[in-house]
Amino acid sequence: MILVTGGAGFIGSNFVLEWLAQSDESVLNLDLLTYAGNLENLSSHEYDPRHIFVKGDIGDTKLVPKLLHTYKPRAVINFAAESHVDRSIHGPEDFIQTNVVGTFHLLESVRAYWAELDEKAKTDFRFLHVSTDEVYGTLCANDPAFTETTPYAPNSPYSASKAASDHLVRAYHHTYGLPVLTTNCSNNYGPYHFPEKLIPLCLLNAMNGKSLPMYGDGQQIRDWLFVKDHCSAIRRVLAEGKLGDTYNVGGWNEKANLDVVNTLCEILDELKPREDGLSYKVQITFVKDRPGHDRRYAIDATKIEHELGWKPQETFETGIRKTVIWYLENQPWVDHVVSGAYRQWLNKQYV
Ligand code: NAD
Ligand code: DAU
Repeated sequence: MILVTGGAGFIGSNFVLEWLAQSDESVLNLDLLTYAGNLENLSSHEYDPRHIFVKGDIGDTKLVPKLLHTYKPRAVINFAAESHVDRSIHGPEDFIQTNVVGTFHLLESVRAYWAELDEKAKTDFRFLHVSTDEVYGTLCANDPAFTETTPYAPNSPYSASKAASDHLVRAYHHTYGLPVLTTNCSNNYGPYHFPEKLIPLCLLNAMNGKSLPMYGDGQQIRDWLFVKDHCSAIRRVLAEGKLGDTYNVGGWNEKANLDVVNTLCEILDELKPREDGLSYKVQITFVKDRPGHDRRYAIDATKIEHELGWKPQETFETGIRKTVIWYLENQPWVDHVVSGAYRQWLNKQYV
């Protein structure tokens, strides 16, 4: 079996669902169920014996070794993290605790487990660390896209904590020989995306008649990838990635935030028009910029395409339409996610 951490979050739950759809290999899913973790994402596998869920912390130095020895996974895929940049600006400590200290303890637990495996199991074992393009910092308009050799220059507490975890993972390979792989992916979007992030936030706000907040001038650029394409890239790297290497993952889909939100509005205008006949675009509102806001991210995905033959299946246009339709068809999921804690976050960030 494989051990997935953070498998109740946005990308982790998509990964678990895709894995169980394509493989008979079981998944041990370790997730702390923070505000971002949602077991409803996995309700279709509630009674599936191939999915074993454990509520717990990657940094728990008693629980994790016990799970490793009991279930003997052949691989660990580490999604668990605090992931929202704005939250890291309000309160960085949880980010240091989970992303840095938690990853360190997880690596220690895995290293001790791996050291005791027999030679074949040791050779076959993999620790895949899921990271972000934000570790590379920000680009100017004409800069080339991030490659795997772009120097790290993280700008937010979130990206600094992810950069620290990447360095630890790298060091555990270099020093102890732990068979690690790292992926650095661009912005994901798709089903089960928690509505604190730009795309699901604007979708929900649009449908609820609320404003669509654009930070600053709305011209910041992100490189968007449909979440299932990220999952397929991780599967490919897990199967064929070169030990100790990092792989940039992206969809060659650079878009300014304002263009993304305009596209969302146009799809909603078509699928669920406003009662007054106006476009949802009238709800777009420019608000105070994010402190230290990175201007542009762009991923050069040449390495994973050439070395591992991976390519995304979705364009931004096909992926974003699927996403809007998913949110329109999954109103109960949306209703449950929009809890009291979620409203408190909106008040803190936007009011
Ligand atoms: P998310 O916030 O939706 O989910 C994170 C999950 O981790 C949640 O289920 C949460 O309960 C769990 N978790 C948090 N702390 C934990 C701990 N100490 N122990 C165990 N579980 C814990 O995040 P996401 O968007 O799904 O991102 C997953 C990973 O992918 C993160 O490492 C993130 O840095 C990386 N990433 C995200 C994106 C993106 O666009 N969302 C892009 C590139 C990389
Ligand atoms: O690049 C990968 C990263 O993408 C991941 O590592 C992070 O975990 C993930 O959260 C995401 O980070 P961003 O900060 O790019 O995503 P977010 O959805 O928060 O914001 C996208 C852009 O939209 C960014 O330029 C900020 C802007 N924005 C965001 C929100 C929430 C707004 O203009 N208004 C908003 O209300």
